[in-house]
Amino acid sequence: MKLFLHLGMTLSLVLSTVQVVAGEKGPGVAAIASTNKYATESAIDVIKKGGNAFDAAVAITATLAVTEPYGSSLGGGGLWLIYRASDGKQVMIDGRETAPELAHNNLYLDPAGNVKRGASVNGPLAAGIPGIPAGMAHLATNYGKLSLMDTLAPAIRFAENGIQVDEKYHVFAKTRRHVLSSYPDTARIFLVDDEVPRKGFRLRQKDLAETMSLLAWKGASGFYRGKLAQQMVHEVNEYGGVWTLDDLERYEVIEREPVVTNYRDMKIISASPPSSGGVVLGQTLKILSNFDLHSMGNIARKHHVIEAMRRAYRDRSVYLGDPAFVNIPVQRLLDNDYLSGLALGLDQHKATPSILIGDTAVIAQAGSQTTHFSVIDRDGNRVAGTLSINTVFGSGFVPEGTGVLLNANMDDFTINAFTGGHYANKDTVNAIEAGKRPLSSMTPTFLEMDNKVAIMGTPGGTGITAMVLLAALDFYDGKPPESWVSLPRYYHLYLPDVVVFERDGLSFEEQRLLHDIGHRLEEHRSSLGDMQAVMWDRANGRVYAASDPRGNGSAVVFSDNN
Ligand code: DON
Repeated sequence: MKLFLHLGMTLSLVLSTVQVVAGEKGPGVAAIASTNKYATESAIDVIKKGGNAFDAAVAITATLAVTEPYGSSLGGGGLWLIYRASDGKQVMIDGRETAPELAHNNLYLDPAGNVKRGASVNGPLAAGIPGIPAGMAHLATNYGKLSLMDTLAPAIRFAENGIQVDEKYHVFAKTRRHVLSSYPDTARIFLVDDEVPRKGFRLRQKDLAETMSLLAWKGASGFYRGKLAQQMVHEVNEYGGVWTLDDLERYEVIEREPVVTNYRDMKIISASPPSSGGVVLGQTLKILSNFDLHSMGNIARKHHVIEAMRRAYRDRSVYLGDPAFVNIPVQRLLDNDYLSGLALGLDQHKATPSILIGDTAVIAQAGSQTTHFSVIDRDGNRVAGTLSINTVFGSGFVPEGTGVLLNANMDDFTINAFTGGHYANKDTVNAIEAGKRPLSSMTPTFLEMDNKVAIMGTPGGTGITAMVLLAALDFYDGKPPESWVSLPRYYHLYLPDVVVFERDGLSFEEQRLLHDIGHRLEEHRSSLGDMQAVMWDRANGRVYAASDPRGNGSAVVFSDNN
């Protein structure tokens, strides 16, 4: 059972056709794709002022926090995969939330041991300690050329002057109205007289503008220490949360080595734990490299892809969590022999019931709200950034006077509100522990072949990595970015043992044939994902940006010389 709308979920919002732009990668040319036109505008602004891709990433991150409050916030977390062209350094900046010190594995259970329904997704108890402000400050200080004053300026302007409520806001706010109206400041900011504002209403966020100004002026300490921190902690506790000032003061961004793997002659650079993205993506691709996908028919190919997903997602649930708390055998999980062994056990003609490849009953979550952007700048610096507050409008809680909407990413521990409010197996590697980062599926990714580089990622809950996998195979097959972002999507997450496909994502004939070889199928009630991608093709000297037709994204290729 899914309790929340799925991001990438677009209901009746699937209006646009794929947005793709291309241009010569001459001097001064940059490309950006993000889920939101204001965010892309901010990035153009910042690059034209002399900023680089990292400055653009800060500007996009900040702007999304203002203009897509249902999907992103200063009170959330993110993973920014970056590549610096001057020295080839590539690193994942881990700004994932941490569990507060007072969190423990029974946090969402009542005294009788039953799950308190909704507690891991609604209100401040659902919120981990945010990493977005620290991540932006880290990017600015260590990689950017401009100050936070410059890069946050567009977002602050949007917060002060307001943005127009659009169809997407309207639909998402309706689904969370009951939570938004439960907290005075949330209701004051995001509703009008407790109702969802009409389309075209100008939504101003003065407190958020002030908070961002503080961050611009003081850097991370403006958020994690002092008056703002005190106010957040006070309010969180007032409404049933468990944050302390120490939690905020101790929050740290971590620079991590990305997971680097190969699929034939394609190199994959992707997210490392506490995200399962890079490992699951690497595993699926390596399992698939044991087969000749090109010589297969459509159904056989889909069957192999589904079976590879099933096996990699099983390992996700058994082995992956925060590397500071659990020993993750990344090398072994990505070992060619190990994965050839898994490929050998893959029945090429029949679905393998998940229960036969392991009995770890961890049910994967469907997820709800997240966002992604991809950037390449004039110098070839790259950023793939995926940011999350987990559910639509996160926890729905704004500490009074701060404008900071808090995340619901505590739910990414093994809680499973999405599958009916039960801990599927709460004693796993992804159990709640003080200071721990919840396992994420965010998969910001670079793909490299010969003369081509792709930058990609998407929201989509636990299915994110499967969606990036489909796009990676498409890139490998030589297809252009507009194809990766619009491909019909499906995934298998090991448990529940079902192939989920987006609305209209598989034809009746495909469904019948997959069913005939033992797959259980479930059509998702909406579309899946909102991919934002950039490609630089050095062979023809062109650069491309593409936004998913399922969303309201904005892709541009432009020269900062004019
Ligand atoms: O980090 C994660 O894996 C989740 N918080 C992502 C949730 C998500 O993508 C929801 N959007 N559809």
